[in-house]
Formats: sequence, C-alpha cells, structure tokens
Amino acid sequence: MENLNGKEKVDGTKSVVDVDDNIIGELISKSQEAKDFAYCPYSKFRVGAAVLTPNGKIFTGCNVENACYTLGICAEKTAISKAVSEGYRDFTAIAIASDHNEQVISPCGGCRQFMREFGAHWDVYMTKPDGSYCQISVEELLPVSFGPSDLKGKKCEAS
Ligand code: THU
Repeated sequence: MENLNGKEKVDGTKSVVDVDDNIIGELISKSQEAKDFAYCPYSKFRVGAAVLTPNGKIFTGCNVENACYTLGICAEKTAISKAVSEGYRDFTAIAIASDHNEQVISPCGGCRQFMREFGAHWDVYMTKPDGSYCQISVEELLPVSFGPSDLKGKKCEAS
C-alpha cells in the first residue's frame, strides 16, 4: 500500500512511465469530475476518464449512452478520442472513475484495444471513488495484443 495525497494505492505494478504522484492525483480528480457529466440514463452506471500526455496535458471524457443501446460509447474512448482529435496521440497514463465503492473500475475489452492502438507501454489507473487505485499497464490488461504494426504483415492476395 502506498500513500497518495491521503489516498491509498490498493494494488498495482511498477509504473511504465515515471509520473509525479501529484499529477496522478490530479488525473484521478479530473476523471472523477468527468464522471459528473456521464450520460447514462439506461445503465445508470457513471464512468469518467482522464488521459495524460507526456507534456502534461489532460483530456477528459465520460460514457455517452444512446436509446439505440449499442451506440453508447465508453468514457475512455471519449477521452482518448478528444485527445486524438486535437492532435495528441502519445499518452503516459489514463485514470478511470466510477461510483463503485467496493472495487476499482476495470476497462472493458473494447477500451483496452482502443488504448493499445496508442501503445502498449503506458499506465492505467483503475480507481475507486475514495481515490484509491490499482495501477496496471495496457500491456498487462491486454497481453499478446493486436496493434498497428501487426497490419504490416503479409496480406491475403486477391484471387
Ligand atoms: N463503461 C465505460 O464507460 N467504460 C468501461 O470501461 C466500462 C463500461 C460504460 C459503458 C456503459 O455506458 C456503462 O459503463 C455500463 O456498461
């Protein structure tokens, strides 16, 4: 257990990228603030995310559901898409927040793949509402993953 601004770190592995604890605290706060904007009338499950770039810029996002259920988007995808759409493709960490007090919020499989697009070696902070977290890398969340370089292999020839 490690201490972070009065918040306890619950678990996790060594950081892939060395980021100041205060910045991680800010990233987690921002993910919690973003959760307040969650649009989730169907699941009522609020999620917020905040992604950090190497130069310290933070982009936030929330889940945005839809009456056509399958069109809903996750908080992580919203945050990453906001960053990418403003020219940022390099990330050092992402924090994810929900209202679940008993366990940290774990990103869905689709979000893991969405993160992996922008590298396997950056950190994911899965948090609880009290600010405690479990830190894990994208690689650990999605081992033996399929990424951009895998498309460079031999392609099927048209017959
Ligand atoms: N959700 C996220 O935003 N991120 C995740 O990683 C897990 C799930 C959202 C999707 C949906 O709006 C709600 O949580 C319930 O699944």
